[in-house]
Amino acid sequence: GTPLRDLAAAKGVYMGTALMQNELTGTSGSIAAAQFDSVTPGNEMKWESVEPTRGTYNWGPADQIVAFAQAHDMQVRGHNLVWHSQLPNWLTSGSFSNGDLHAIMIKHVTDEVTHFKGEVVHWDVVNEPFNEDGTFRSDLWYNQLGSSYIADALTAAHAADPGAKLYINDYNIEGQNAKSNAMYNLVKSLKAQGVPIDGVGFQAHFILGQVPSDFKANLQRFADLGVDVAVTELDVRMQLPSDATKLQQQAADYTTVMNDCLGVSRCKGVTVWGFTDATSWVPSTFPGQGAATPYDENYQPKPAYTAIQTAL
Ligand code: XIL
Repeated sequence: GTPLRDLAAAKGVYMGTALMQNELTGTSGSIAAAQFDSVTPGNEMKWESVEPTRGTYNWGPADQIVAFAQAHDMQVRGHNLVWHSQLPNWLTSGSFSNGDLHAIMIKHVTDEVTHFKGEVVHWDVVNEPFNEDGTFRSDLWYNQLGSSYIADALTAAHAADPGAKLYINDYNIEGQNAKSNAMYNLVKSLKAQGVPIDGVGFQAHFILGQVPSDFKANLQRFADLGVDVAVTELDVRMQLPSDATKLQQQAADYTTVMNDCLGVSRCKGVTVWGFTDATSWVPSTFPGQGAATPYDENYQPKPAYTAIQTAL
C-alpha cells in the first residue's frame, strides 16, 4: 500500500511518530522513514536530557534525531520546553528565588530554541499545564512564577525562532470538559494579549473504545479561536492480552481520530506516540495495558495501521 506519509501529504497534513535515539537504525528506522513525515523525539529534547548538569548542554541525542529527520525529509516536532516532569535534579532539588527561576526558564527556552533554530517546525513550548479540574497544575513553574510563565515561555521561544510554530500541549483535553475549557480560556486570553501562540496539541492517549465523541467539535472550537490544532501523541491502549475483537475496536478508534483531525481544516497533522508496540511507553506506565500502537511487537502492521491508511 501507499506509505502513510504520502497519503497524508496528498491531504495537506503530516503523519508523525515519536522516535527515540535507539530507533534510528534497522527495522525501526526503515519503517519510520518510509511511513512518517514528522518526528517527535520521545525524550531527547526534554530538559533532563539536554541539560543534565546546570550549564552543560548535551544536544547529541536530539541532534541525531534531527539529522535522521533531515536525511529522510521529515519535519521535527520539538518536545518539549517547559514541563513539570523529566526535569534535571539540579533544577528540582535546588531552591531558587522566583527571579532566578524565571531567568532559568527563559534561558532554557532561549538556548534550546536557538540551538534548533530553523530545524524544528512545531515546538511544544508548554506541556501539561493543567489539572483535570481546569486549575493550573501546581508544579514549580506555576507555584513560583504564576500563570504568566506560559506567556513568558512563548514570548521567549518566539524571539529565539520567529519561524517556529508554538504550541501548548496537554492530555485529557480532547473532549469538552473542565480541563479543555481551561485550555480554551487560556488560549483565548493569550490571543487577546497578543502572545505568540500558534497552536494547541491534543496528546490523545486514549483507552480502547473511549475516544470522546465530541473530539472533532472540540478541535473546531479551538480552531475558531484562530490557532492551529494537532493530535500530538496518539495511542489507544487496551488490557493485555490483545485479541482480534480488541484490535478491531482499536482500528475503529484510530479511524475516528484520523477523521476528526481531517474534518477540521486547521488540524495540521497526527503524531502517534511510538509506531510500534515493541517500544511503546504504555506497558511500563500502565501495568497490564499495552498494544497501543499501529504496529505489533514484531513490527508488523495491525488493523490500526490499515485504519490510518484508509482514513488518509
Ligand atoms: C514519555 C516517554 O514516552 C517515556 O519514554 C518516558 O519515560 C516518559 O515520558 N506525555 C508526554 C510525553 O508529553 O513526553 C510522555 O513521554 C508521555 C506522556
